[in-house]
Amino acid sequence: MDKLLIEGGPRLAGEIAISGAKNAALPLLCAALLTRDPVTFTHVPDLNDIGTMLRLLAQMGVKVEREGSTVTLDAGGLDTPVAPYELVKTMRASILVLGPLVARMGEARVSLPGGCAIGARPVDQHIKGLQAMGAEIAVEQGYVHARTARLKGARLFTDMVTVTGTENLMMAACLAAGETVIENAAREPEVVDLANCLVAMGARISGAGTDVIRIQGVESLHGTTHRIMPDRIETGTYLCAAAATGGDVRLTGTSACYLDAVVDKLMDAGCEIETGRDFIHLHASRRLTAVSIRTAPYPAFPTDMQAQFMAINTVAEGTAVIRETIFENRYMHAVELIRLGADIRIDGNTAVVQGKPALEGATVMATDLRASASLVIAGLVARGETLVERIYHLDRGYEHLEQKLAALGARVRRVR
Ligand code: EPZ
Repeated sequence: MDKLLIEGGPRLAGEIAISGAKNAALPLLCAALLTRDPVTFTHVPDLNDIGTMLRLLAQMGVKVEREGSTVTLDAGGLDTPVAPYELVKTMRASILVLGPLVARMGEARVSLPGGCAIGARPVDQHIKGLQAMGAEIAVEQGYVHARTARLKGARLFTDMVTVTGTENLMMAACLAAGETVIENAAREPEVVDLANCLVAMGARISGAGTDVIRIQGVESLHGTTHRIMPDRIETGTYLCAAAATGGDVRLTGTSACYLDAVVDKLMDAGCEIETGRDFIHLHASRRLTAVSIRTAPYPAFPTDMQAQFMAINTVAEGTAVIRETIFENRYMHAVELIRLGADIRIDGNTAVVQGKPALEGATVMATDLRASASLVIAGLVARGETLVERIYHLDRGYEHLEQKLAALGARVRRVR
């Protein structure tokens, strides 16, 4: 398994471009299942999760063409509405094929994703919503079996804000008979990017980005070309790496408009930040001030940035209190940061981080995507060498990570 060897110390400086958003691309690729026409996506990030999704779609009968960061999917020959366990177990987002398959084919057999390091992550809201739209659903032998003559519009209310739940139900509703209203909908920018693409395909959607989304079902959708939005979590991750190292970094092809909560916290920590239509420039001159955070659905502070901020707080001035309200087990990075000398105490969903002048390099283990990013940030500031193991987690969500870090002056290299 690959490892990342990091020599701590250099202040990051320079400019890198931000890639297309993983969490926008994954539902968007599934949207191609809703039409017989080819759909083209540009600015698609080169990530393992994207590769897994394309393999999943291809084994259903979807024609996949990939030229660099442009992907064209043709689901005209879709004939196998099945998502098998061996693919789904490696990527939970596979559940996003369920809504489109039921809507387009009237049936689907999708393996339950199973849990992951950060929590049980059930999909009961996805199932409840499709049942409300008339799908007959049985969960047997670890698979969701769904069947319907045609979905019909319904008023849906999810018990909690769920990003992929909202996306699955919004895609299914595009081809249902009548109007669907999703209340308590997720407001994440990736939901809006998906809605924009669906509307370009002929769907009738209003309210995306608010907590009430209305969809008027139509008979069919047609093809389109859609550019994936920038990855706001990749953006936030590099801002944190620059902040932690006292750096001076410009990120292009991205914007702060989807990261207000994160930018505010970085400014509270003492960073100077300049933002423009398609760039963010961060300068951190001195030791950061500890900042407390509480994760919550968009537009509040994103759970996907919690681990990266914990890393910053381990070497900041003062004490930070972190509250994780979305996932029940998203502190796996804490014990690894403690191996680097961090002072962190976990009590349920609260972590208290006492900033220290320095961390000491050590061997640490990545457990999930954002935890891995947190360990990389800590390794960039720790004294000496840090070896991050199991970095296949990183390859799922960060395109060309070591190349981008090296372009900013970091001393990192991948070791087999
Ligand atoms: C999406 O996951 C993201 N993944 C996650 O990013 C992100 O952390 C999460 O939203 C929260 O923002 C993608 O978009 C592919 P949820 P998702 O459904 O949709 C509970 C990353 O690092 N819940 O919004 O799976 C759930 O257990 C990943 O890129 C149910 O109980 O998250 C969680 O506690 C990690 N039943 C909460 O709701 C359901 O049916 C929010 O989960 C659905 C969710």
